[in-house]
Amino acid sequence: MSKKRKDYTLGVLTSGGDAPGMNACVRAVVRTAMNEGVSVVGVMNGYEGLINGEFKRWKNARDVGGFLRRGGTVLQTQRSKRFREKNGQREAIRNMNEEGIDGLITIGGDGTLAGAHVIAQQGVQVIGVPASIDNDIWGTDMAIGVDTALNTITEAVDKLRDTASSHTRAFLVETMGRASGYLAVQAGIAAGAEIVLCPEFPTSVEEVAATIEDAYRRGKNHAIIIVAEGASLRTTELASKLDAMDIGFKTRVTILGHIQRGGSPTAFDRLLAARLGIRAVEVLLEGQTDFIVGLRGRDITMAPLEDVISNKRPVNMEHFNMVRQLAR
Ligand code: F6P
Repeated sequence: MSKKRKDYTLGVLTSGGDAPGMNACVRAVVRTAMNEGVSVVGVMNGYEGLINGEFKRWKNARDVGGFLRRGGTVLQTQRSKRFREKNGQREAIRNMNEEGIDGLITIGGDGTLAGAHVIAQQGVQVIGVPASIDNDIWGTDMAIGVDTALNTITEAVDKLRDTASSHTRAFLVETMGRASGYLAVQAGIAAGAEIVLCPEFPTSVEEVAATIEDAYRRGKNHAIIIVAEGASLRTTELASKLDAMDIGFKTRVTILGHIQRGGSPTAFDRLLAARLGIRAVEVLLEGQTDFIVGLRGRDITMAPLEDVISNKRPVNMEHFNMVRQLAR
């Protein structure tokens, strides 16, 4: 990018569930664009704001000062039902044209990227940046926010283990992930669970009971069971069933919920957000459209949005099995 692009206006939005590092990415987008002489418009409230024409023009690079370490999203976010309809998309595109936005960077999860593909197909120049604590987006090893969420879960489980050990209890800890067990599995390894339940690899109540009872017999004074939100067994029901089966430990349930989405991003998420934000601007100004930028190994790469939305990043079965291997 050598030529200054004074004639180009770039729009940026965050959409779907917030993820720590979204602000760091917006900061990288704004500053990279401004370094190139490009004007930048922030779209408030995701696609909903695009439909309503909620725009915010940043005048200079200092306007995004302090964004780096802020959790949530300063641009606000929504899950827009209207944008799924043709009318909503048409209004959004019309507003973009009226505002003089030449290209759009959309930061968010699978729904956000599906929306990006839909408008790219209607002629909008758009590049997606994966940001979702679920880490279920195909085309990137890591999405923005995942590392922070995983650290939050690990810290929470470490604390719960103190109480579990003190009372000789089994704690069932529910992580987010309506359709993805990534966080549960990785936290199972990072925080040392006995067993993990996730939507991808169903586990029976009997299997959980046998695993936990075995831990009790081996003299453990605690057991951690991590349950992904989308697992086939519901966390509270599972706890009652285990209590009724007499597995040695009494159980307690902790649902971590939205605490996993908040907080200042980790260094990893800030670095990822910076690299993806910079690359998204570069490829947009190169004239590319209908792609995401993502992390593959140590490199920032691109993947067509069409492939991204028709595939799901799988949970690693080896990692799933590692949890039990290491629970001794
Ligand atoms: O996609 C991110 C996520 O946090 C999921 O893990 C969770 O199932 C969902 O969003 C919760 O959505 P909401 O914040 O709208 O309740």
